Amino acid sequence: MNAAVDTRAPAPIVQSDPFTREFMDDPYPGFAAMRAAGPVLWSPQYGCYIVARHDDVQRVLSEWQTFSSAAGVGLANFSKEKPWRPPSIVLEADPPLHTRTRTVLARTMTPGVVKALRERFEREAEILVDRVLDMGAFDGITDFAEHYPVKVFPDALGLPEKGRENLLPYGSMVFNSFGPRNEFTEAAMANADSVRGWIMANCTRKALGKDGLGAMIYAAVDSGELTEDEAGMLVRSFLSAGVDTTCNAFGNLLWCLATHPDQWRKLREKPELARNAFEESLRYEGPAQAFFRTTTKDVEIGGIRIAANEKICAFMQSANRDPQRWERADAFDIERRVVGHMGFGTGIHGCVGQPIARLEGEAVFAALARKAKTIELAGEPKRQYNNVLRSFASLPVRVTRA
Ligand code: HEM
Repeated sequence: MNAAVDTRAPAPIVQSDPFTREFMDDPYPGFAAMRAAGPVLWSPQYGCYIVARHDDVQRVLSEWQTFSSAAGVGLANFSKEKPWRPPSIVLEADPPLHTRTRTVLARTMTPGVVKALRERFEREAEILVDRVLDMGAFDGITDFAEHYPVKVFPDALGLPEKGRENLLPYGSMVFNSFGPRNEFTEAAMANADSVRGWIMANCTRKALGKDGLGAMIYAAVDSGELTEDEAGMLVRSFLSAGVDTTCNAFGNLLWCLATHPDQWRKLREKPELARNAFEESLRYEGPAQAFFRTTTKDVEIGGIRIAANEKICAFMQSANRDPQRWERADAFDIERRVVGHMGFGTGIHGCVGQPIARLEGEAVFAALARKAKTIELAGEPKRQYNNVLRSFASLPVRVTRA
């Protein structure tokens, strides 16, 4: 009789725990060690595989037939355990369901739709930048990064003003739940019922304005492409994915600029670099650290065999710093050709909201570059701990007007 083959044996064991404060304080040495250890690592602690090199991350995110999203894009394997909320019908779905729902969402992100939002987004960006310039010293997170995305995107969606304080706690619940059950998940779930209740109540057709992106999603019910419940689920996807991520990205780029005076100088000289600066910050210090997939069949990565129905964690932020892919991978350079970063993911699940996120980033940081002369840290930043998002809880900053 043949002995059972242990397909895990060849994968080196991961040496660090990426879901701890210590790791998150400075993940880059840990990522470098993961990339050096092999193409695929095994975490006995979490019972999942890990890829951390750029090419392997890209492959796992691109080959959806082998690396499925339908069993969840976090550590939990929905074929083995019940998800904490009904799974997303876009993020946590494979084709053909994913194709149908993504088509509807993509319609709300066409160049025409985004162009129509530009003026409003730029006006709000001016208001935000003037406000922090008047303050002089401010918190880059609560006064700046968390302000704008909670205003402009929900406005565009048609979401009521009242109760928007639920948006960031909801994002925190969603993103923390992609990791293991630990102190971060526990803290995020503290007010789960009331937060979830507000979100679900405000994803309905009745709650949303008649001419926003939310109404565009509901129009797909009228044309027979979605059910009423599915439309609500897709609005929920926008609220889960479109607010926290962008706030985090704003805080991270502000920190990059405050700590890289040469790059700030370049941006001031050429505010038109704002779009690329935003993009480079998604590579250099992106909010999205990792998403998971589940193998649909036995597969090999870099000569290491992985059985079907195993979880793989793809560390996008490690891919973004892989020196095999990037020259001067650890340098923040706003003029870099940054195409190919994994900050928005890639493949069929690559961020559908990219055009809106880019518009927000460009509007705010171009306004900052035009109006501010200096920007520097005014105190020690405090990290926000989240299982899969990288950001600050507090970022004391001082600015002067140009
Ligand atoms: C800088 C801000 C943002 C970042 C860093 C970001 C990052 C990501 C990443 C990495 C994914 C891929 C997840 C995976 O492969 O499993 C994703 C998907 C997604 N994002 Fe974003 N996102 C941002 C802003 C937005 C915005 C503004 C929206 C809404 C307008 C949005 C909506 C979505 C949706 C619905 C998906 C799922 C797409 C699919 O599964 O086909 N995101 N995002």
